Amino acid sequence: MSNPTIEWRGVFENSEVNALHAECFAHRVFEDDWWTQVNRYSLGWVCLRETETLIGFVNVAWDGGVHAFLLDTMVAKEFQRQGHAKSLVQEAVRHAKETGCEWLHVDFEPHLRGFYLEHCGFQPTDAGLIRLR
Ligand SMILES: CC(C)(COP(=O)(O)OP(=O)(O)OC[C@H]1O[C@@H](n2cnc3c(N)ncnc32)[C@H](O)[C@@H]1OP(=O)(O)O)[C@@H](O)C(=O)NCCC(=O)NCCS
Repeated sequence: MSNPTIEWRGVFENSEVNALHAECFAHRVFEDDWWTQVNRYSLGWVCLRETETLIGFVNVAWDGGVHAFLLDTMVAKEFQRQGHAKSLVQEAVRHAKETGCEWLHVDFEPHLRGFYLEHCGFQPTDAGLIRLR
């Protein structure tokens, strides 16, 4: 069992998040500018590191008011099922509360219902989604 460090708004390289995202969401490695994006649009983000390596991440997008939205919760495959994603979400919840947000939203695929509702404390709700492209 590993004991990684968790950090709100931790510094990261774009290449680290791009590699983790590619592994977790099974696509080629993109060259997205995560650092600019989260600094410009997010309330914050949580980094999880095992020694120096980024093994977990979650982005907390923000409307500038009282609503925040969890995006891209991810934990490297080798470190999954050890409670790390739950810790990432708990940290995001804590900081979103401290920053004055009143609502934290998330959507997820059906197999993650237990993770978000039973392990992370989200209430079930109706929601909608349109694929724009
Ligand atoms: C989803 C994800 C972040 C979970 O990370 P994790 O560190 O393994 O999760 P945790 O160990 O904190 O899980 C806690 C509990 O949630 C549930 N859970 C976690 N991952 C699950 C999965 N893939 N399927 C079903 N239940 C899951 C389990 O009940 C788990 O407890 P258990 O291991 O004792 O059974 C990780 O699997 C991942 O990166 N997946 C790919 C990216 C993705 O789909 N992200 C979600 C975007 S909404």
